[in-house]
Amino acid sequence: MVKPLIAPSILAGDFSRLGEEAHRVFNAGADWVHLDIMDGHFVPNITMGPPVIASLRRAVPKDSRKPEKYYFDCHMMVSNPEQWVEPIAKAGADQYTFHYEATKEPLKLIKLIKSSGMKAACAVKPGTPVDVLFPLAEYLDMALVMTVEPGFGGQKFMADMMPKVEALRRKYPNLNIQVDGGLGDKTINAAAEAGANVIVAGTSVFKAESAKEMIDLLRDRVFQ
Ligand code: DX5
Ligand code: ZN
Repeated sequence: MVKPLIAPSILAGDFSRLGEEAHRVFNAGADWVHLDIMDGHFVPNITMGPPVIASLRRAVPKDSRKPEKYYFDCHMMVSNPEQWVEPIAKAGADQYTFHYEATKEPLKLIKLIKSSGMKAACAVKPGTPVDVLFPLAEYLDMALVMTVEPGFGGQKFMADMMPKVEALRRKYPNLNIQVDGGLGDKTINAAAEAGANVIVAGTSVFKAESAKEMIDLLRDRVFQ
């Protein structure tokens, strides 16, 4: 049985104080922090790379007694995902989500990610059919169904992506299924009903008056 995991996207946080922002949402009950890596090529925006993640990891060190804590979930919106596996692993990431559209050899890439010590996940953009994930699912730690076009925070949730989530959940009851883009109090029910259990929330959590209340609300709705 999968469990609800809430992953605030630090893209909506204050980039001049990334360490404090990560602590703020972890203290508010976030399970993971979602790090959006954009290369200005796969998507029309640039965010951060391995040196920033390494500094963030130093600001939020792992607790060896609780390795599941302070989990960094890296969403790699990059054209050459093979190239960044080692640098991102060395920077201290826990999970590496590549885009299906960015690689010719997804299975080889999954093996590379796992051999680097990270969990492996694969994302599909809104225009990519979900079936491409079926041959990969048994090797994946998570599948990500994008609910906006990748590139920017604060966009509108695409409810018409929910049949993709439903199709995945029907076939894979135990797979972590993540949704990313436009998630908040108005859209969480649709995602939860479709079967998503890993919820990325940027704007809704970071701009909330109480991050804790928003995280609690999202988590409560996942299994209602
Ligand atoms: C979009 C990113 C998302 C985004 C989520 O390219 O992958 O993680 O920042 O932000 P909100 O929740 O504001 O849509
Ligand atoms: Zn993302």
